[in-house]
Amino acid sequence: MGKKGLGFNSKTIHGGQEPDKAYGAVMPPIYQTSTYAQTTPGGHKGYEYSRSGNPTRTALERSLASIENGKHGLAFASGLAAIDAVIKLLEPGDEVVSTNDLYGGSYRLFRQVFEKYGIGFHFVGMQNLESIESLINEKTKLLWVETPTNPMMNVIDIRAAADLAKKHDLLLAVDNTFATPYLQRPLDMGADIVMHSATKYLGGHSDVVVGALVVNDDELAEKLYFLQNASGGVCGPMDSFLVLRGIKTLHVRMQRHCENCKAIAEFLQSHPGIDKIYWPGFPAHPNHDVAIRQMSDFGGMLSFIPKGGSFDDAVKIVERLQVFTLAESLGGVESLAGHPASMTHASIPKEEREKSGVVDSLIRLSVGIEDVKDLIEDLEQALL
Ligand SMILES: Cc1ncc(COP(=O)(O)O)c(C=O)c1O
Repeated sequence: MGKKGLGFNSKTIHGGQEPDKAYGAVMPPIYQTSTYAQTTPGGHKGYEYSRSGNPTRTALERSLASIENGKHGLAFASGLAAIDAVIKLLEPGDEVVSTNDLYGGSYRLFRQVFEKYGIGFHFVGMQNLESIESLINEKTKLLWVETPTNPMMNVIDIRAAADLAKKHDLLLAVDNTFATPYLQRPLDMGADIVMHSATKYLGGHSDVVVGALVVNDDELAEKLYFLQNASGGVCGPMDSFLVLRGIKTLHVRMQRHCENCKAIAEFLQSHPGIDKIYWPGFPAHPNHDVAIRQMSDFGGMLSFIPKGGSFDDAVKIVERLQVFTLAESLGGVESLAGHPASMTHASIPKEEREKSGVVDSLIRLSVGIEDVKDLIEDLEQALL
């Protein structure tokens, strides 16, 4: 049947990949080179300078396109470098409507970098389509969706957002970092651009910082490739190799992340010391029906608020954890705990942060693939 009709699990391993042409190496070699010999000016074998292209990066970009069911993949030096390229598609005077509950670094890039260059941003809870539509005007060019949202675990209806984008002739970009294509494929639901912090689940081992974009449209791909090369935030060959290796086990890791996270959500739900849990797998979650429709499982992330929680209570809990590591980031094989108000979301002003629910006592967990019994025992001793 060839490689065309492969299922998702096979695509993570084989999608867009060929044995290396020189020696048949099964894994693409790390082409650690900045430049390539030419026989005559312009006479080269497809690569001339590694900002413009590198064979290891090409192998990763093909894999990214394959797992997201897209035509073109682009790999960047970080997730933020990938977002930077998307916003640079816009002109001064253009506007973006973005979800209000998003990664703090994306918010900082929008407000503190791009606003200076005349691009306007509106932040809104995107679970409600009318609130998105009320902010769309003739200057609006892009909808920025992150789903599930970081750290409140709201789920935004990608198909509905795509219909809205089509109706108003806007681009729809979806940050798919939390869900990964194992759980949802936004291009299949009508998005124009899928973005990843590949630092997280795609890399999967907390050993690399990489970003990615995947699109279907040739013209859009051309513009993004121009920006990738012109601005230069490209993914290096070693990092490309590491993410490519990570992607090959994405499906087995994600399956375990989802199982462990479900068990922890259920444990926390029965714990007397917990006030609220944010996990889209609970039938009572306000967007559970959307999650069921667009995701094949509920992912490896959850957030919670301990009872009577203050800033200090939350800090004490995360400090007592021993198997969970207190750290920024998510999506690696090891479990991490974070305190968004002082860590990942500290760059969002307190009143803005609290509007979307990121209160001082919120704790976020990235549930890893350890024995779940060890994770639950760790939480039990930390919650006291
Ligand atoms: C949802 C989300 N998007 C984007 C980013 C930014 O990616 P990077 O840290 O790779 O620049 C992050 C990083 O934490 C993230 O969690």
